[in-house]
Amino acid sequence: MAKIVVYYAHPGQTFSRANSAMAKKARQIEGVTFVDLYAEYPRHDIDVDKEQARLLAHDVIVFQFPLYWYSTPSLLKEWQDLVLQHGFAYGHGGDKLADKTLLLAITVGGSDEAYTKDGYQQHSLRAFLTPLEQTARLCQMRFAVPYVLFSALKAEEATELAHHVDGYAELLTRLRDEQFDLRDAGAEEVLTASDILIKSEA
Ligand SMILES: Cc1cc2nc3c(=O)[nH]c(=O)nc-3n(C[C@H](O)[C@H](O)[C@H](O)COP(=O)(O)O)c2cc1C
Repeated sequence: MAKIVVYYAHPGQTFSRANSAMAKKARQIEGVTFVDLYAEYPRHDIDVDKEQARLLAHDVIVFQFPLYWYSTPSLLKEWQDLVLQHGFAYGHGGDKLADKTLLLAITVGGSDEAYTKDGYQQHSLRAFLTPLEQTARLCQMRFAVPYVLFSALKAEEATELAHHVDGYAELLTRLRDEQFDLRDAGAEEVLTASDILIKSEA
């Protein structure tokens, strides 16, 4: 079984619909370590030794977050700044994350059409994720195809959102059981719930 840790970062969980539903499901999956970063570090006093030990103990690192200003919520950025140290994650002797996988599970307000060259956001979603992709590569990690919910604010709870949550649970479960082949991400690619659930039915 693969060892998976989900780092969940949402600063406003009382108004979250998408991520809170995803988190509720992910926490229940046996054998998956679930870390609620804002609950664990309300004062942003990240315990670097503890986090590095956590990373060493897992094969797949999942960052679950809502896209905020085309980036991660600030505590997850702080976590990267402090935990991914020189000599640990990169640089001389910094190969402790080599061959691990980074998977992003993100929700975004914009639609998939908006995240195109001619769309409202003017770039693909993957273009906005480039810093995280290159961070993974610098740390010798595999950057997997991100799992995405577009138009998260409009997603109907009983249909699109439920489908996305089911896809997320299926993805984590199959990753844990080493039944899901996480491909390296190509430039324009994202995974959506249909990709996972259709694959699982096939
Ligand atoms: C401070 C803030 C910044 C946001 N920035 C973006 C953004 O850059 N791109 C985008 O598509 N949506 C953006 N959104 C929309 C969020 O991604 C969306 O509210 C979230 O994914 C919904 O998930 P939730 O129900 O778990 O909160 C932003 C929302 C907030 C509150």
